[in-house]
Amino acid sequence: MSDTAKLAVGGKDTDFPVLHGSVGPDVIDIRKLYAQTGEFTYDPGFTSTASCESGLTYIDGEEGVLLHRGYPIGQLAEQSSFMEVAYLLLNGELPSKDDLSTFKNTITRHTMVHEQLATFFRGFRRDAHPMAIMCGVVGALSAFYHDSTDISDPEQRTIASHRLIAKMPTIAAMAYKYSVGQPFLYPQNDLSYTANFLRMTFGVPAEEYVVDPAVEKAMDRIFILHADHEQNASTSTVRLAGSSGANPFACIAAGIACLWGPAHGGANEAALNMLREIGTPDKIPHYIERAKDKDDPFRLMGFGHRVYKNYDPRATVMQKTVREVFKAMKVTDPVFDVALQLEEMALKDDYFVEKKLFPNVDFYSGVILSAIGFPTSMFTVLFALARTVGWVAQWNEMISDPAQKIGRPRQLYTGPTQRDYVAIDKR
Ligand code: ACO
Repeated sequence: MSDTAKLAVGGKDTDFPVLHGSVGPDVIDIRKLYAQTGEFTYDPGFTSTASCESGLTYIDGEEGVLLHRGYPIGQLAEQSSFMEVAYLLLNGELPSKDDLSTFKNTITRHTMVHEQLATFFRGFRRDAHPMAIMCGVVGALSAFYHDSTDISDPEQRTIASHRLIAKMPTIAAMAYKYSVGQPFLYPQNDLSYTANFLRMTFGVPAEEYVVDPAVEKAMDRIFILHADHEQNASTSTVRLAGSSGANPFACIAAGIACLWGPAHGGANEAALNMLREIGTPDKIPHYIERAKDKDDPFRLMGFGHRVYKNYDPRATVMQKTVREVFKAMKVTDPVFDVALQLEEMALKDDYFVEKKLFPNVDFYSGVILSAIGFPTSMFTVLFALARTVGWVAQWNEMISDPAQKIGRPRQLYTGPTQRDYVAIDKR
């Protein structure tokens, strides 16, 4: 394995160091490329660019592998809890019993939001999309904690991270309550992180809300499956925003904005809408043909992934969880049969086989969330809630990295070259 890569530019050979990670492809360190050759690299969409060094999450897209701090996602989803995975991502190791209990206690004691934040919600129209509310309200947290957040102090960074993880379920539940015109519920500290969220979302002050343990378990697992996913678009957004030293609450709001798009977190909403539109298995071939038609903008939502060229390991767990939730809640949904048959047909179709398009995490998540009772507009909010753990862990890792610099890509300029200004009456 060579430790340098040779690049011939302008008749001159230049060597660049090759860096080796613990697993995965080597990377060519081109930080000195411009200084040594006067040229840039061109990689829109960052398909071949490692933007940072990270020890959090590893994905092997060809093999369908996802590891958090080395632990396979399937094992974490089956055996761990969201709080434990959050601790793992933030701290690098699984917690001891005492560590986990202290961590849960800390998170629980930060779940309330400032009472003034409730008035902030009232500025939104009652039919506002909850993701619009999340962008605004999470960004507004920066106003509450700006002076108390010195990002160069690791302890203050930890407090900001705990606040974000703790307050996201409260804010997400408030966004939901606001959209249905029901009163906000305060957190209840004797409940788990996930049960507390379910109660704040579906409970009402008029009666006691009993959390169904099967639903709590499924929800917790869905949170685990969305906790982190290395340098995806929203995480890169959080890192880029944070690279300027910006307030972390504002950085997470930037991540939420990016996640909202249908090519990213919004795909779960789009996937369920698509499955409902298909409606019955006999219409599946028509939609498969549309997805293959280059002149039709329609894509199979919940299918394909920038990194996975194999089955998304999160989709495997998600499909199993659908069955568990249906069994526990004694419900069925014809949309699940459509999803199963659509997957089966697509995976036999040459177009999807050749392009290595497989179901991603979003393909089945909407079916479960809908069975639990969430409207589609809340799906991406739940994703944001869970991904906050990854965002803050990645942001912390970046700020602690001594090699960290402000993110500042360059460009291939194709606009006009220099020309003289022409007065308006001469144009
Ligand atoms: N349906 C039909 N064709 C597809 C699909 C799809 N879902 N996804 C990709 N393709 C085709 C493209 O048309 C393209 O064909 P071409 O080579 O003939 O032009 C080829 O497969 C490659 O697609 P790209 O868009 O270039 O791949 P990219 O890696 O940029 O995109 C993405 C990945 C955005 C996820 C894409 O697969 C997609 O749009 N999927 C549907 C949306 C979705 O489910 N997003 C969720 C992603 S997971 C997440 O954010 C949690």
